[in-house]
Amino acid sequence: MVSVSLIDADRLWTRLMALAEIGATRDGGVNRQALSDGEIAAWHRVIDWAEEAGLTAATDAAGNLFLTLAGRDRTAPPILIGSHLDSQPTGGKFDGAAGVMAALEVAVSFAEKGETPAHDLIVIAWMNEEGCRFAPGMMGSEAFAGVHGLEAIRAVRDADGISAGEELDRLHASFPDLPRKPLGFVAAAYLELHSEQGPLLDTAERVIGVVTGIQGKKTFQVVLAGAEGHAGTLPQQERRDALAAFARTAAALHDEIGAIDAEIKFTIGRVTVEPNAPSVVPARVTFTIDLRHPDNAVLDAAGARVAALCHRYAPPCTVTIAPLVDAPSNDFDPGLRARIRRAAHDQGLPSMAILSAAGHDARHLAKVCPAAMIFIPCRDGASHVEHEWANPGHVAAGASALAQVARDLALADLPFAAGA
Ligand code: GLV
Ligand code: MN
Ligand code: MN
Repeated sequence: MVSVSLIDADRLWTRLMALAEIGATRDGGVNRQALSDGEIAAWHRVIDWAEEAGLTAATDAAGNLFLTLAGRDRTAPPILIGSHLDSQPTGGKFDGAAGVMAALEVAVSFAEKGETPAHDLIVIAWMNEEGCRFAPGMMGSEAFAGVHGLEAIRAVRDADGISAGEELDRLHASFPDLPRKPLGFVAAAYLELHSEQGPLLDTAERVIGVVTGIQGKKTFQVVLAGAEGHAGTLPQQERRDALAAFARTAAALHDEIGAIDAEIKFTIGRVTVEPNAPSVVPARVTFTIDLRHPDNAVLDAAGARVAALCHRYAPPCTVTIAPLVDAPSNDFDPGLRARIRRAAHDQGLPSMAILSAAGHDARHLAKVCPAAMIFIPCRDGASHVEHEWANPGHVAAGASALAQVARDLALADLPFAAGA
């Protein structure tokens, strides 16, 4: 049995709750969207905590935050642990923040013990995981893994027309003394703690989820274009009403794609109507589709149905479909999964294998180094909601399992096998 003194559970919880004050919403949630003032304030707080413990802060061109506990061999590939600090507009206190604060607690506790790891241990907060203000998400981890170029990321605009590039420059200007790391560097392993965001651990009364992989996801932005006109005078049969086209198309998409099987997840989460005036026939509707399934063949077939159904139901309006995300299901590193299972067993924490239904930065890290995730339960499986909640004991248990795996990796001389 490994002692839970690998971390300070009280400090972790106190800091997690203090972080949740930045961007706190009236109903107990968090609104701390990517590259906002709130995220900048969160960076200040997290950097202060890290520097107090002797870690050094750095960033990169994609606005990722790195907090490094220096190892003996500065040239050895580092061990990366982290998650994200941005939230949904009506998000909770845990999605992302729990993973960053658990990772910071692991590194701070390590530093406090006066031990020096063989490798650098780097705590990371990835830029824009949520993809709400700037879509799609996971921009920081995608840039790190080379999935998307920096210029494409910088060009994305939010609803107010502000570009991610302008906001990245503002973030960097707020931290003029932070050194820049290269965009993407060789890493030995990546570990991410996250709440499950679903009900399985809670229902099974398990504390640790050993995440096998992440289900596949496709997202699209669809524009239906018609023509505006006077609501009182334009004859019904002459209208090219984009909102009426949306209603037909959305109903067909929900009926056909939503019924593929019990595992399909189909969501239209954002709809914009133009000109959005009560007495003007709507000329244009822009909407997003979030489509997920664990089986890549089913996901591909469902993705193809999106275009077919839009083209069938939108006329007389025209349809333009932009695919935004095309991420197949992935498997996490078996060796790291075995280490997480063993850490849970050593610490007396009931665990189970679990497929992540939500997306995470670890998906992209898995393309460039061995990667794995630890899940902890969240109350009623609720997430992306203000009442998201995780039990303090579960947060501590997850962080302690993360500490065991991260410490073992960071203390091991190279070359180590991820699963050794
Ligand atoms: C991540 O936030 C997701 O929507 O899966
Ligand atoms: Mn998250
Ligand atoms: Mn999220």
